[in-house]
Amino acid sequence: MPRRPDFARWLDETNDVTQTFLAAGQIPGLVNLAGGLPEPDTWPVAELSEFAARAMSEYPAQALAYTPIDGLPDLRDRIAAQYSTGALRLTRDNVLITTGGMQALDLLGKVLLDPGQLVAAQSPAYLGALDAWKPRAPRYRPLVFEDPGFDPQAGLAGAQFAYAVPNFSNPSGRLVPLEQRRALVAAAQATGVWLVEDDPYGHLYYDGPALPHMLALSASGAAVYDGPVIYTGTFSKQLAPGLRVGWVIAAPKVIKALTTAKQGSDMFTSGLCQHIVIEALDRGLPERILPGILDTYRARRDALCAAMAEHLSDHFAWQVPAGGMFVWAVARDAALDTDALMKTGLAHGVCISPSSVFDPLGRDRRAIRVNFTLNPPEVLAEGVRRLAAATRAQLAKAA
Ligand SMILES: Cc1ncc(COP(=O)(O)O)c(C=O)c1O
Repeated sequence: MPRRPDFARWLDETNDVTQTFLAAGQIPGLVNLAGGLPEPDTWPVAELSEFAARAMSEYPAQALAYTPIDGLPDLRDRIAAQYSTGALRLTRDNVLITTGGMQALDLLGKVLLDPGQLVAAQSPAYLGALDAWKPRAPRYRPLVFEDPGFDPQAGLAGAQFAYAVPNFSNPSGRLVPLEQRRALVAAAQATGVWLVEDDPYGHLYYDGPALPHMLALSASGAAVYDGPVIYTGTFSKQLAPGLRVGWVIAAPKVIKALTTAKQGSDMFTSGLCQHIVIEALDRGLPERILPGILDTYRARRDALCAAMAEHLSDHFAWQVPAGGMFVWAVARDAALDTDALMKTGLAHGVCISPSSVFDPLGRDRRAIRVNFTLNPPEVLAEGVRRLAAATRAQLAKAA
């Protein structure tokens, strides 16, 4: 019998911690603080089903047919118009519709990254991005923006692209300040390195007005944007993740390259879902539901942080995030290994994400990511109590 060939080598590198915490959502009674999921009650189900029915009856040829690889022109135009300003001039040639923001990251890996080459990535980094690029076995240069000595130009130099989540990064919840956004844009311009700005949380500001994105800061007033920023957005947090509609805004040549890659990936994003989104935009649905989403998530953030202050402050340090979906807490005691804490937490009925999965090198075991959007305040408080018990048990084992 011929031997069945092995799987590609990169699959062997999958971390079992990732598998464990991704599977944890299925354990009954567990408080899941590990995922990054939105609250299903925020989804505008009645409106979306009405729009779906209308798309099927009024535009069956677009809703059910093969549609253009780069997206329905009407949706590309709306995204271009939404982001255009006096200096940032966008046309549909600057926009690609993707199957969720996740596909944008996958396609960017395909068109920007040669095997084994260098990516300069905000650290800690989004696990999904690391997973998307893993088959290309990149080398990583961590960009730690909060380091006092951080030098954007040295950080970007020589990389095939740089990657940042300036609005409430997943996992760190950190907001990149305006001056640093400007410095990153200047560094991208000076070095010629593409700067990927991944922005799924740009609408989730709980405490103040939104900062300008790096895309806008990089605008030069050219008739068609041709700058170094590649911006990725998604309707997952504004409407619902199941729609799987996201977008990329970039120079037309980047959009063309990504379109070639998308052709060899899924060919096009569901026309039905794009129609649902067009209707939602035309009726102002995202703006209408946003205040409710912000109220729900702000209250949950406050409940989580209050419970953490009561039960975890001896063991962890964190900053209250001004938006997004996560609190990043760093262990005070270097003996607290957070990979081990994740496993001890499961035995105590709570799941958190350990920092190792957000480190391209898999080494950082000092921190945890805690999600606050999925569970109501009382469940968050119970999760924190269990986590505190698990932390004490873990430290006692380590002593
Ligand atoms: C930083 C970041 N980028 C991209 C995504 C992808 O989101 P989606 O594929 O649902 O649009 C996520 C999802 O949580 C994320 O946290």
